[in-house]
Amino acid sequence: MGLLQGLSKIRVRLAVGFVAAFLGMALFGVLSYSYFLGMEQKLVFLSQADGMVNMALEARRYEKNYFLYRHDQDFEQALDYLNRYEAMLGADREHLVRGHGQAAIAGLQKVSADYRRQFVWVHDHIGGDAGVAKMDQAVTKLRASGKELIERLEVLARNERQGITDLLREYRPLLVAFLVLLAGLGAVLAYSLIVRLVRPLQIIEAATEVVAHGDYQTIPWAKHRDEIGSLVQAFNRMVTQLRHNNEQMIQTEKLTALGTLTSGVAHELNNPLNNISTSCQILLEELGQEVGEYHRELLAAIDQQVAKARDIVSSLLEFSRQRDFRLRRENLRTVVEESLKLIRGEIPSGVQVRLLVPGGIQVQMDKAHMVQALLNLAMNAVQAMGEAGVLTITARMLTQTRRVELVVEDTGPGIPAQVLPRIFDPFFTTKDVGSGTGLGLSITYGVVERHHGHIEVASSQGRGARFTITLPMDTERS
Ligand SMILES: Nc1ncnc2c1ncn2[C@@H]1O[C@H](COP(=O)(O)OP(=O)(O)OP(=O)(O)O)[C@@H](O)[C@H]1O
Ligand SMILES: [Mg+2]
Repeated sequence: MGLLQGLSKIRVRLAVGFVAAFLGMALFGVLSYSYFLGMEQKLVFLSQADGMVNMALEARRYEKNYFLYRHDQDFEQALDYLNRYEAMLGADREHLVRGHGQAAIAGLQKVSADYRRQFVWVHDHIGGDAGVAKMDQAVTKLRASGKELIERLEVLARNERQGITDLLREYRPLLVAFLVLLAGLGAVLAYSLIVRLVRPLQIIEAATEVVAHGDYQTIPWAKHRDEIGSLVQAFNRMVTQLRHNNEQMIQTEKLTALGTLTSGVAHELNNPLNNISTSCQILLEELGQEVGEYHRELLAAIDQQVAKARDIVSSLLEFSRQRDFRLRRENLRTVVEESLKLIRGEIPSGVQVRLLVPGGIQVQMDKAHMVQALLNLAMNAVQAMGEAGVLTITARMLTQTRRVELVVEDTGPGIPAQVLPRIFDPFFTTKDVGSGTGLGLSITYGVVERHHGHIEVASSQGRGARFTITLPMDTERS
């Protein structure tokens, strides 16, 4: 398993390929060297075998001369060549026995000994009293021995030559096999480099271009378990993070621009609204009974609407004001409980609240801001569910990413897909005029962001809404 996993890595494959090629070449080199050594030896023996044939032929040439001219000199020359031939045979005996067998070499020795003996006998008795018939018989024998000697030696030389041919024939398939193996290995390495490295890199390069142009596309391709697979995964993580950061940046920019605008407008509206309210109250008090019931009701309605307008202005100011913001170590459960306490009066009896936040989670928070943020979420959920439903608030630690996750979930009607991208926008509301400013979620978004957190929503029509906040885990020691 470990080995297989290792082999899926490109660097391991390349290393294994190169080591295999190196070992193959080394093995081939050693084998070739030993073949050439053997060949060299065989060539030496072949030239020695040829030498022996020549010695024997020389001996026989002097034998022929001896019978023609009867010079003792020729007899001695013949014996001299025979001696040299026997010396060569004795020197190479071990190799010759190994290559041609004990019997063949013993036969050679016997034939040459016969030849010598018969030649010496003929030389000693020629012109003597041995008798013509006996001499003829001895000479015939001598010639037969000489002929046999040459024949045997020629067989020996032929065998040596055959040995070299055999060695070459053995070497040829080895050479072919090695070349085929080398070509195969080269092909595999080239395949690894091109298919598993070059092509994916081209794809990643193209994907990078796409991202550079602002289109945050991930690469739909994670089947590889090698370095390229990890690279693609890292690339996709980077793209997802970039997309997220980009969205967050746009949202923040929107909030900042609107914050500046609204605080200006709210301040400008505050004074005239105060004036209207004051004037209205003075009129109500001073006109007293002088005006009819109908007009008094109109004045009261004006005062009421102005009060509502001032409420809106004050929540606008709340939205845009950079209130004192201080992070402190807080218990998450306590903060959630506090938010719920504030809206207790607004929760209908048919709505069940499930609080599944463990008591031991500590987070660095600005309590007042976070209470406000959670309250907005809970309030939206309650308003969406109407008379009955379940509001669930859960929290858990994500130790791997060192974050805390808080989920606010309801069983209300959910958020339609076309509305979903706009719910965090300031002033976006689907509620009736006067009953919602559309600032709730944008405030929550801003608060979470100031805590270096993220907020995400998942919802579909008819299935409720689920808001997930992640915040950095408190790393301070308690
Ligand atoms: N839990 C939810 N279920 C269904 N829709 C929701 C939920 N939370 C928010 N929404 C939708 O998102 C819109 C924006 O919410 P947001 O809290 O920003 O404003 P609001 O609730 O309309 O007004 P305000 O909070 O100022 O009273 C809501 O009008 C509603 O359509
Ligand atoms: Mg709201």
